Amino acid sequence: MDFKNKVVIVTGASSGIGLAIARLFSIRGARIVLAARSEDKLKSISKELPNSLSIPTDITKIDEVKKLIEKTIASFNRIDILVNNAGRGYDSSLENIKIETFQKIIDLDLIAPIQAMQLVIPIMRSQGSGEIINISSGTALMVLPEMGAYAGIKAALAKVSLTANEELKSDGIHVRVVYPYITATDFEKNTLKEKSREESIDNSNSLPQPDSAEYIAERILLGLDKNQTEIFAHDWMNKTK
Ligand SMILES: NC(=O)c1ccc[n+]([C@@H]2O[C@H](COP(=O)([O-])OP(=O)(O)OC[C@H]3O[C@@H](n4cnc5c(N)ncnc54)[C@H](OP(=O)(O)O)[C@@H]3O)[C@@H](O)[C@H]2O)c1
Repeated sequence: MDFKNKVVIVTGASSGIGLAIARLFSIRGARIVLAARSEDKLKSISKELPNSLSIPTDITKIDEVKKLIEKTIASFNRIDILVNNAGRGYDSSLENIKIETFQKIIDLDLIAPIQAMQLVIPIMRSQGSGEIINISSGTALMVLPEMGAYAGIKAALAKVSLTANEELKSDGIHVRVVYPYITATDFEKNTLKEKSREESIDNSNSLPQPDSAEYIAERILLGLDKNQTEIFAHDWMNKTK
């Protein structure tokens, strides 16, 4: 796929997988709109990427997401690709889930990507083309103790995305889902955790080595080149599918 001059919004572009995606699209000639809350980080990343724009955005605040879209259109006059990447984990057994915390994670990991999709779809439809890439998680395809809340949200994001893909095909809009597995980023550090049965549950022996964020970005662009709707971004996962 040719990404030269394509306008790509990446949420959660200040670190980890989002940053790696932004850098790789930029290397392939795209114009990147960097969105996350950390203004200073975005500014310095923007200096590194030619033709990029940094727009500090809390994606759980709909007014800020609307401004993100408006500023992108004002600067570039189109949106070719939206990468809904920003997200956070939540580890808890079912018994210990705090509903207030769970709702915040739902807002960030599920509602925010849906709202961003709703805002870009009319623009992409009027262009006659568009790509939406939603970062789900390998946990959505597995049953792991303490991860039901997060995995359930990511599974919902995948289902909503695949359904939207069917709904929007005829408008030239492709909605794709990415399932990364364990990736070496700040994700674990940023994951909210309830004190529960963690000591008694040790998944570590069965877990493969983490991938790098750069590897996930490469797999995503490869998935686009191969026109995959679902991108299973780990060799181990591909083998078990
Ligand atoms: N790492 C893994 O093992 C793994 C595995 C499967 C799936 N994933 C998924 O991959 C995605 C990226 O995670 P990561 O591994 O790169 O983790 P990360 O390094 O913690 O990055 C998370 C990104 O999300 C942004 N973010 C958080 N809350 C936000 C908000 N309210 N508004 C805007 N941006 C927000 C953060 O930026 P600011 O703090 O600057 O806002 C940061 O750029 C997530 O959706 C995650 O669920 C990760």
